[in-house]
Amino acid sequence: MRILVLHGPNLNLLGRREPHIYGKETLAEVNAKLEALARELGTELVIVQSNHEGVLIDTLHANIDKADGAIINPAGITHYGVPLHDAIAAMPFPVIEVHLSNTGRRRHDPGTGLALLHDRASGGRRDRAREREALIQRPRSPRCACMETK
Ligand code: DQA
Repeated sequence: MRILVLHGPNLNLLGRREPHIYGKETLAEVNAKLEALARELGTELVIVQSNHEGVLIDTLHANIDKADGAIINPAGITHYGVPLHDAIAAMPFPVIEVHLSNTGRRRHDPGTGLALLHDRASGGRRDRAREREALIQRPRSPRCACMETK
């Protein structure tokens, strides 16, 4: 089973970027935890971080017939990324959107971006590892969901 893990703009700065909001964990540490979980579950991860929306879209396209699911933190693109939204909608596999912070508390203009992706399963904090495991083990579970992971 192959799962895409897509990290959007500025997430390469995790750990030093507004740690009071996004925490002190670096992206390398987040990825190491994901890789460890994937190894336990016998799953292959394709992890990509990009500061460019097109790279995330190209990665989805390149994996349209290869991936079984995707986890994405679109970061700032969440709030306006119509092309990324369209690419996600075109995927035949489930895509789960995750965030470190509560995006609802931020003062962004949601525009027409990924609003349709925001099928919030729960307003509260949830267990990160359990969510990822759920995606990996049940790739046909809800197509798009928005979850806080912190
Ligand atoms: C984020 C939330 C977005 O609003 C913000 O632009 C980010 C990170 C999060 O994980 O909390 O870059 O996606």
